[in-house]
Amino acid sequence: MSVNDENGRRKALKVLTVVGSAAFCGALAVPTAIFIAAPVKKGDDVGRRWVRTLKADALREGEPKKVAIVMDEHDAFSVQKNVELGAAWLVRRGETIVAYSVVCPHLGCSINLEAEGKGFSCPCHTSAFSPDGNRIAGPSPRDMDSLATRIEAGFVEIDFHKFRIGVPEKVEIA
Ligand code: FES
Repeated sequence: MSVNDENGRRKALKVLTVVGSAAFCGALAVPTAIFIAAPVKKGDDVGRRWVRTLKADALREGEPKKVAIVMDEHDAFSVQKNVELGAAWLVRRGETIVAYSVVCPHLGCSINLEAEGKGFSCPCHTSAFSPDGNRIAGPSPRDMDSLATRIEAGFVEIDFHKFRIGVPEKVEIA
């Protein structure tokens, strides 16, 4: 083998090494790019979980309606469609629609509607709440937990969250 052949083989080996390294780095960069390109919520939507419920015109002034909270659940690998995560009370007050979690802040039982506009009550330990969700009796450590709402395409959407029970402060847990 001549000296020229040996130099040619060395050059070819160097080129292969550089091309192989570049390809390896590119392969590492692809998953990173996909992760960075995941949808990002902007501005007011950061931390929001808007869930569509019923048509806004289905609500009559001061008559609470219970709605199921149904949404898709995502984890790193899969999506579960139409999972029922809870429920909320919706109340129309003029042009505004307010929402309250049905979960009692005492120990988490489901809050019911009282007859004849008398507000809400919890059957477990008799906590009572006004029609505006304010605590009026019983062991509940705070008012009913309000949830943000908005109207989109004629539907009421709720920014659904869960809160710690048994504490006086409203602390979001999910
Ligand atoms: S869980 Fe509602 S009053 Fe105790």
